[in-house]
Amino acid sequence: MTAPRVTIRGAAPSDLAAIAALQTDSFSDPWDAASIARLAALPGAVLLVAVAGSGTLCGYALGHAIGEVAELTSIAVAPEARRAGLGGRLLAMFEGVAASLGAERVVLDVAADNNPACRMYAARGYIVAGERPGYYRRGRVAPVDAVVMARGLN
Ligand SMILES: CC(C)(COP(=O)(O)OP(=O)(O)OC[C@H]1O[C@@H](n2cnc3c(N)ncnc32)[C@H](O)[C@@H]1OP(=O)(O)O)[C@@H](O)C(=O)NCCC(=O)NCCS
Repeated sequence: MTAPRVTIRGAAPSDLAAIAALQTDSFSDPWDAASIARLAALPGAVLLVAVAGSGTLCGYALGHAIGEVAELTSIAVAPEARRAGLGGRLLAMFEGVAASLGAERVVLDVAADNNPACRMYAARGYIVAGERPGYYRRGRVAPVDAVVMARGLN
């Protein structure tokens, strides 16, 4: 599955279960479909999905854009589709939609130990804007800091 074969479009209600399944594959504290549906109902919600030619969902980017600031809440690419440019494409599309809604910058939280994501954001021009010590709590494992990153859209 290579990125050029994949189409990115707005999410439909019928995509929510597959988004939740990809959350489960990608995060230790995944959201369920109901939580994603609540996000989808928020003002300025931006929900994008990447779909392979087979119809399989292989990535998503979720967030919202309110006023000058858009927040990227979650982004993931299916494990077998990673390192083919799809995460970068989803991020660029999210930024484009957010800009079309009037956002002037995108902000996000990323776990300090998430090297692939930190590198992806840095490669797309995001810079560190702050830290939230111990923000991510993963069961019995020691909490991990969140790094707040931001990028202007102009
Ligand atoms: C982060 C994630 C979305 C990246 O998706 P992807 O499709 O693999 O990303 P891309 O192929 O577009 O890579 C873009 C850039 O990110 C960086 N990158 C991505 N994966 C990397 C890895 N495993 N190691 C180092 N750098 C990496 C590279 O700079 C890469 O550019 P390059 O390929 O030209 O070197 C994916 O790894 C993922 O779904 N991870 C699990 C969920 C997650 O952590 N989401 C982010 C939460 S904040």
